[in-house]
Formats: sequence, structure tokens, C-alpha cells
Amino acid sequence: MKSLSLSLKKLVNILNDGEFHSGAFLGKTLNISRNAIWKHINQLAKYGIHIESAQSKGYRLNQPLILLQSNLIKKNTDYSGKLYPDKIEILGSIPSTNDYLKHYRNTGTDTVSICLAEHQSAGKGRFGRSWHSPFGSNIYLSCGWRISKDVSKLSGLSLVIALSVIKALEQYGLKNNLAIKWPNDILWDDKKLAGILTEISAESHSVTQVIIGIGLNVNMPVVGKDEIDRPFASLNNILNAPQDRNIIAGLLITHLLQSLEKFDEYGFTGFMKQWKQYDYLLNKKTTLSVGKIHVKGTGAGIDEQGHLLLRDSHGEIKKYSAGEASLHSSIKNTSASCENSCSTEKVG
Ligand code: BTN
Repeated sequence: MKSLSLSLKKLVNILNDGEFHSGAFLGKTLNISRNAIWKHINQLAKYGIHIESAQSKGYRLNQPLILLQSNLIKKNTDYSGKLYPDKIEILGSIPSTNDYLKHYRNTGTDTVSICLAEHQSAGKGRFGRSWHSPFGSNIYLSCGWRISKDVSKLSGLSLVIALSVIKALEQYGLKNNLAIKWPNDILWDDKKLAGILTEISAESHSVTQVIIGIGLNVNMPVVGKDEIDRPFASLNNILNAPQDRNIIAGLLITHLLQSLEKFDEYGFTGFMKQWKQYDYLLNKKTTLSVGKIHVKGTGAGIDEQGHLLLRDSHGEIKKYSAGEASLHSSIKNTSASCENSCSTEKVG
């Protein structure tokens, strides 16, 4: 389902009052059959939304679903810079917003294409993981950008994107406890609040296609261990109330565009100072994993290309360009060493 049907949107709006409504009432109000209502309810359940049903009373939503609306997102987005969206598309249920944008190629380098989905059936995370994407709850946003630069000039880009998410969250009102775990996990109080998946492909020596995917937990419904196996944070729990995703999406787009434009013009160096403020690994005992290989060290910041710096037990600093970082205590077996196989380099 590329875009949401009008009747499904209207059904959600009625159920948002948190009261029970009978199938007969819903059918009459929306001018569709009771069977069609039942199909919509089933669809929502498949999307991960719990709808309570009681034989004599009907259906009810436990948590309101504030649906995405492009006019509200645009109202909360500031396009005053050189880079602006050629479109902001709202989709219903699709496998992955990143994959969706891969098939859409914008032609200009001054524009980006943006899409958001209410639900992803195969949301993708880093390292081949899946990204839990229940309907109408969180932000699943992708941005396609053609940049007039060779791939080799893009190091640090994923850190810049993480900083733009932080800025959006701060403008939204989150003041404390935000950090970035290299390269781009957004944490709140040590728990993952947002993740970023950047997919880069070279079109030629001078043009690169970048697809940026941002998943931000906003109104995450109660989930089981099978769905998310790591500690996570969600804005509704942090702020003790359901949040309007349209406002947050507008802020995310605004700060993303501003940061991409600055990165295009000045590169990564202009962001180094900001990074220091949010560096989760700085001075912490860290394990960097690349597949089955684990390397241990103490976080020593980043270099001018955005590589991670780790100080080893001899006090030597080495740099790393890829891998998944975690604090020491979270990795139990560190059988293999990474001396030659993680693209390491000694630093001055
Ligand atoms: C991570 O593992 O931390 C990255 C998660 C990225 C999830 C987002 S949701 C929007 C976009 N579409 C996807 O399939 N993945 C990204």
C-alpha cells in the first residue's frame, strides 16, 4: 500500500479518542461495510498496532496515532538555504524508505527528495539488522541526495547527519542526556533513540548518490524482546506524552538540509568541535567489532576525516574507519585480535 486509504485515515481519527466504537457505527460513519472496517482493523494489527476489541462494545485504540501530514511537515520545515526538497512524499506501508528512494533519481544537485512512511515491513538497520517500524508511531524518513563530489570526499558525512538529528532534537526541546555513539547512533540516557543508515553509490568520479535513512523512536508502542532486543528510548516516554511526528519531521528535514549544505561547502572539519560535545565513547573503554573481530581501546575522539580514534593498552592511538562500537562490558568474547584486519592506522 503506497499511500494510506482515506477510510483508514478516517478510522484512525475516530479511534484516536480512546473510546470504544462499534463496527456498525464505524461502518455507517465512514460509509463502508462492516467487513471493510474489520479488514482495516486487521491491517492495523498486522502493522503492529494493538486495537482492543470487545464483542458488545466494538474497537478501541489504547494509544492515539497522530498520522503524518505533508502540509504540517512543510509548515515546520525551513527551506531558506540553497538545498531544498523537490518533494516530500508521505507513504503508507512500504518495505523500506531507503529502498523506495533508490528507485527514484532526482536530477539536480541543489535538490533532495524526501519520503516518510507510516510503516515499514522490512525496515533496514546497520549490519544487516532489521529496524522495527510499527505503523503510525515513529519517524521513518529517507533523503536522497546527488552530491557533486567523489565518494572519497564524503568521509565524515554520516557523523554530520547524526549531528543534524541532535540539533533537531534540541530544538524540539530535549536539552540533556543526548549523545552520539560513533559513527551515528543517537542515544538518550545510554539508550538508542535514533539510528541512521547511509547508503552511498558512485555515479561517476564526480557525482555520488547518497540515500540517508533516519529512524527515530517517537511514540513507540509497547514491544516485546523479539522485536527490539536492545535498550531503546522513545520521545513519548522521555516527555511523558504522545508527540506530534509532523513537527519533529519538519525539524529533522530543516537541520539535515542545513548540515548537508554546510558539509558540501566546507567538508567535515567545520563539525569537529560540535562532535566533541556529544562523543559518547570519549575516554570510555570501548570495543570495536568488525564481524567476529573485536578490538579494545579507550575512546580518544575522532580525526579530521571522522575516523574513530582508540588508545590501546600501550598508549598508542589508532584510527578506524568502520565497525560497531560498544562499551567494554557489553561484549563477552573477544577471541580475535584486530591488529591487521580492521583498516587500522597508527596516529601521530
Ligand atoms: C541503525 O541500525 O541504527 C540504522 C537504522 C536506520 C533505520 C531507518 S528507518 C528509515 C530508513 N529506512 C530503512 O529501511 N532504514 C532507515
